[in-house]
Amino acid sequence: MAITATAMVVGLIVAATVGLSPVWGAGPRPVVATTTLRGGEQAGPPAPIALAMTPPMGWNGFNRFYVRVDAARVEAAARALVSSGLKAAGYTYVNLDGGWDLHDRNPDGALQPNPKTFPGGIKPVADFVHALGLKFGIYASAGLRNCAGTSAGSYGHYWQDAAAFASWGVDYLKFDWCAIPYHDFPHMSHASIGQVLASQMAQAIAATGRPIVFDVNDWTDDSPWSWAPRVSHMWRTTPDIHDRYASMVWNFTHNVDHFTMARLGGWNDPDMLEIGNGGMSNLEYRSEFSLWSEMAAPLIAGNDLVAMSPATQAILSNTAVIAVDQDPMGMQGYPVASAGGHWVLTKPLANGDRAVVLFNQTDKAATITTTVAQLGLPAGLEYVLVDLWNGTAKDSTGVIAAAVPAHGVVMYRISTSGPSDPTGR
Ligand code: GAL
Repeated sequence: MAITATAMVVGLIVAATVGLSPVWGAGPRPVVATTTLRGGEQAGPPAPIALAMTPPMGWNGFNRFYVRVDAARVEAAARALVSSGLKAAGYTYVNLDGGWDLHDRNPDGALQPNPKTFPGGIKPVADFVHALGLKFGIYASAGLRNCAGTSAGSYGHYWQDAAAFASWGVDYLKFDWCAIPYHDFPHMSHASIGQVLASQMAQAIAATGRPIVFDVNDWTDDSPWSWAPRVSHMWRTTPDIHDRYASMVWNFTHNVDHFTMARLGGWNDPDMLEIGNGGMSNLEYRSEFSLWSEMAAPLIAGNDLVAMSPATQAILSNTAVIAVDQDPMGMQGYPVASAGGHWVLTKPLANGDRAVVLFNQTDKAATITTTVAQLGLPAGLEYVLVDLWNGTAKDSTGVIAAAVPAHGVVMYRISTSGPSDPTGR
């Protein structure tokens, strides 16, 4: 196993100062300097941000197939990502979720890919995905089991598992939070324990020398947004999403609150997309895609890519909306109005444009109105508003109003076309 100097230095921070040897498992325990955070906790350095300078995009089968994912299904999804044009639109990661490995480790303590569903192990699947020019992601749990209870967790084996993932060619790790033996950490809060465990896995990943996007899937009770930005590329802000409008709205309203925590290289995650799974209308799925993109959320499709309808494909591959999500400035959009469920969100973009979402959360069609001043744009200029769902453009110097269907959005990219003519001509 290659061990970088940084990892050597950081590796013992937690081991030496927090005394958590049970979680380190097999692998080197190098010598170290410490990093002290506000509040006195110890943590490693931030994950290398260049790995996720824009929110990660890809696919994960959990929302559609739960834990029933096998090698053939992953390979079919990877092929479909390419043939559907989604790869060209920016979707890069093909990710396993829980259930790929057996309930118990082998006598060497290694995770065992399920021989029925992954007969050749994981590496050939990763190789297949890489051969298509895509990247490969895997799932593990910080605790003793995965969250579905089907498989071994990584607790006690972080270094060993990170090394295995790196040797298989893993590019992305979703690190879930189930069966944590909290009794091993007397007198520590669950949030502090979450921080320590995430820091340790970040160090174990760093020690492999392989760039791996680190997705911290801790529970909202542990407020991961308050500490995970130091050690990971994305962190959950919500409970699991379900394929229902109310669930999507819940995750939107709880993710949008944390907009100050998102930054280049580290993103709030309101959970994977449900678009195309059948429990919402296409209008509602369009709302999900617009809101997630306005919030600079990771865009991880969760549908059956092989049997995707043209409507689903059109939503997932709207490149104008994706460009808002992937904007290089990396700001999460934020609300400037939400009264009565009539939301106005604004997202500054790198070239000076604004992305604006008017979201009608209610069950009745409404006209939602805002102004350039409310959006934070200078007055006295003429603006062009391009509707990102139908491509039409209109001008405005002040008031912006649109008829928005129940549960729907209107999404604009607003740019200036120069000073407005005060005579109105
Ligand atoms: C949950 C997680 C889901 C999925 C599931 C697998 O904890 O939030 O996204 O990974 O476990 O059982």
